[in-house]
Amino acid sequence: MKTRTQSIFILIALFLQSACTWYENPEPFIPKPKVPKATTTLEASYTIDTPNQLTHAYWNTSDYFVVQEEDITTGLVTDIDGLLNVNNMQNGIPDFNKGNPSNLELRAAYDDQNLYIKVTWNDAKYNTSQGSWLFNGPNDPLKADVTDGWTSQGNDDNLFLSFDMGTSKRDVWKWSLALSEPLGYAIDMYDDGINIVTDVGDKIYERNEMIAGDYRSGPKYEWDGVQQELERGLAGFTILDPGFYLLNKTTFKGDVNLGDQIYQAECAQCHGVTGNGQGEFPADFAFNIPGTMTRISRASYDARVSATTHDGKGYWTPLTQEEKDNLIARIYAFTGVPGYYLDNSTGSFPDVQAVSNTQLAKITSPREGVQYEVLLVRPLLTGSAQDIQFDLSKSMDYVFDIYLTDNDDLNKIGLQTQSLTFLTQ
Ligand code: HEC
Repeated sequence: MKTRTQSIFILIALFLQSACTWYENPEPFIPKPKVPKATTTLEASYTIDTPNQLTHAYWNTSDYFVVQEEDITTGLVTDIDGLLNVNNMQNGIPDFNKGNPSNLELRAAYDDQNLYIKVTWNDAKYNTSQGSWLFNGPNDPLKADVTDGWTSQGNDDNLFLSFDMGTSKRDVWKWSLALSEPLGYAIDMYDDGINIVTDVGDKIYERNEMIAGDYRSGPKYEWDGVQQELERGLAGFTILDPGFYLLNKTTFKGDVNLGDQIYQAECAQCHGVTGNGQGEFPADFAFNIPGTMTRISRASYDARVSATTHDGKGYWTPLTQEEKDNLIARIYAFTGVPGYYLDNSTGSFPDVQAVSNTQLAKITSPREGVQYEVLLVRPLLTGSAQDIQFDLSKSMDYVFDIYLTDNDDLNKIGLQTQSLTFLTQ
């Protein structure tokens, strides 16, 4: 049995123990959260976190480089016959993003294998088509080209990073919404000081044309109606909108000239001579909106146009199958048949993987206030003479240019001769 004194002694001992416990085990040290700050060069911090997704927590706290962009090239127009409305940034900065700031920012990181560069910028409108095929399409205010028959029109949005490899050679990574994003890569190119070429074995897209190099020859392929599903690298699974992307393809069907004759006789009174929906009896249903009519498969056209709710039903049902085929070709050619198709038949992919926030399953454009987010991931060392090697045992500093385009193939804004610094671990 404990005495009263013993009990008090135990209580004091317990108190002292708890007091000692408190002093011996202070609360764990919690570092203050890192507050991101703007830097004057692009700094890549070392991390073991593998920040290979846009939403990775690393990017919330990383420092960022704000690019005060300048005009790089302006006033250029393509001289290719039949290639129209591909130069949207004649005046450079005032034309980019409808004159609103691009808010172009870069963030970077590296680990033992890879360099990660996250790029964000504003662009009010997704421009997804590159050289789409239009029949009797609109003219180009900057060019005097004839617009009768097939022309190739429109352009996409691009991001370029160009690294100085010395002796006027450069490694150029081009992220293209039309050509590279669907497969989850950036186009890896090499500038030898005279020509820019795609790296050997890295081409993942092909021009969809009847005659090589002829921008008036018309499309060779169209969508075959099978949902376009694709498993990509870091970018993961996607479905590709057949209004803009061609992966599952078949030979382009129908005679567009004959189709146009039927269209003008049977459909134009409501849908308009130019497919703008404003005929003599306006249908208020336009065909000349990018992507909209080519994402309808041939198999489902018949049901839609012969639906009892369709005012033009009676003009469609008497047509022969051949006439319908020709007419659908004509409607596709109002919307624009994709100017390229995707191809990875060689099985070799570029080294530069890309993850972006674009939704490719159904592209709606314009998308007001859209901010592009693109993450590029490349091994530090590739071993290829056409690639820059980030050999950190030799140098922690690299020189690069960055460019943006907005529905324009030639004119660019951005900033040249910037430095990418790998911070020591
Ligand atoms: C009398 C006026 C009229 C004529 C003629 C007409 N259409 Fe239409 N069409 C409409 C209207 C109105 C709509 C929009 C409402 C709807 O979908 O029914 C439409 C919609 C359509 C659509 C979109 C259907 C969908 O579900 O997305 C297609 C395709 C179409 N028309 C094809 C044709 C073709 C091909 C012809 C010629 C053979 C034709 N139309 C003739 C009035 C007409």
